[in-house]
Amino acid sequence: MAVVDYKKLGLVNTRDMFKRAIGGGYAIPAFNFNNLEQLQAIITASSELKSPVILQVSKGARKYANQTLLRYLAEGAVQYAKELGCHHPEIVLHLDHGDSFETCKSCVDFGFSSVMIDGSALPYEENIALTKKVVEYAHQYDVTVEAELGVLAGVEDEVASEVSHYTKPEEVVDFSTRTGCDSLAISIGTSHGAYKFTPEQCTRDPKTGRLVPPPLAFDVLAAIEKQLPGFPIVLHGSSSVPQEYVDIINEHGGKLPNAVGIPEDQLRRAAKSAVCKINIDSDSRLAFTAGVRQTFDEHPEYFDPRQYCGKAREYMVDLYKHKITDVLGSDGKLVNCD
Ligand code: G3H
Ligand code: 13P
Ligand code: ZN
Repeated sequence: MAVVDYKKLGLVNTRDMFKRAIGGGYAIPAFNFNNLEQLQAIITASSELKSPVILQVSKGARKYANQTLLRYLAEGAVQYAKELGCHHPEIVLHLDHGDSFETCKSCVDFGFSSVMIDGSALPYEENIALTKKVVEYAHQYDVTVEAELGVLAGVEDEVASEVSHYTKPEEVVDFSTRTGCDSLAISIGTSHGAYKFTPEQCTRDPKTGRLVPPPLAFDVLAAIEKQLPGFPIVLHGSSSVPQEYVDIINEHGGKLPNAVGIPEDQLRRAAKSAVCKINIDSDSRLAFTAGVRQTFDEHPEYFDPRQYCGKAREYMVDLYKHKITDVLGSDGKLVNCD
């Protein structure tokens, strides 16, 4: 099967946008999508704000929505952005958490412009060997490769073992040189999902009673940047779990007690550093769910998906715009904003 050239689809890889993001002290949003409404909201927000954007497809998304459909949606997204008045969009189609050479190869062959090979759970030398193999294949087609070193903490992990999961700064030069990866996802205290910390790991704001998470390990980030000056760093697990959406969900029949994410001031600080890609998925799920629950609660007579998915889409547009403008700072950062 011939390899699909992503450039012919109007997509771009991450190389140039990361370089500009590091130099400019901002980060590119990497939003996961699984369905039409999420994609419409991402493209609406990024086009109106003239922001480069990374569309992320996970293994779960490929299974849920079908890889072929998602790829054609991404191709359509380029045209949709133009229709919205963004005549020179910079859209990356990226495989999130690729788990094997075969998965990464199939995405490269299929028109993705960027892939992640996540060998973070493997022993160090095996992670290097696998990542290198993916890089050698992907670079033949000018597809960029994100790798991961260090394991993201999870609330289910033993607190005692969390520190040892952080990326080891003394390994990053060896890893990036030997693999040839284009960007590196690191572990400095973020984690996936809407429950990033247990209540025991947090303090409580005396005024609001809300949970206040422990800070990210900015010392580890600084040490990594010192080892790899100017090298693109990626943060996974960077949803902030906005309490306004959690409250709407809980007020309208949901049950998300003690959901907590990464405070936005910490993400702002990270975006100003060599962190040039920030991954957000859970926040979109929360905005979507808030819109659907609220609509059903207020209008039990509704049964047209456009009624409740429309509200969900509005909430997601607001969310993405807020992230782009107030957290990552990627608005107005297209090479050509005409
Ligand atoms: O990193 C995980 C992303 O949030 C994707 O999640 O595998 O449930 O699609 P998923
Ligand atoms: P969140 O669960 O914090 O949104 O993280 C998403 C992510 O890292 C996707 O790879
Ligand atoms: Zn992730």
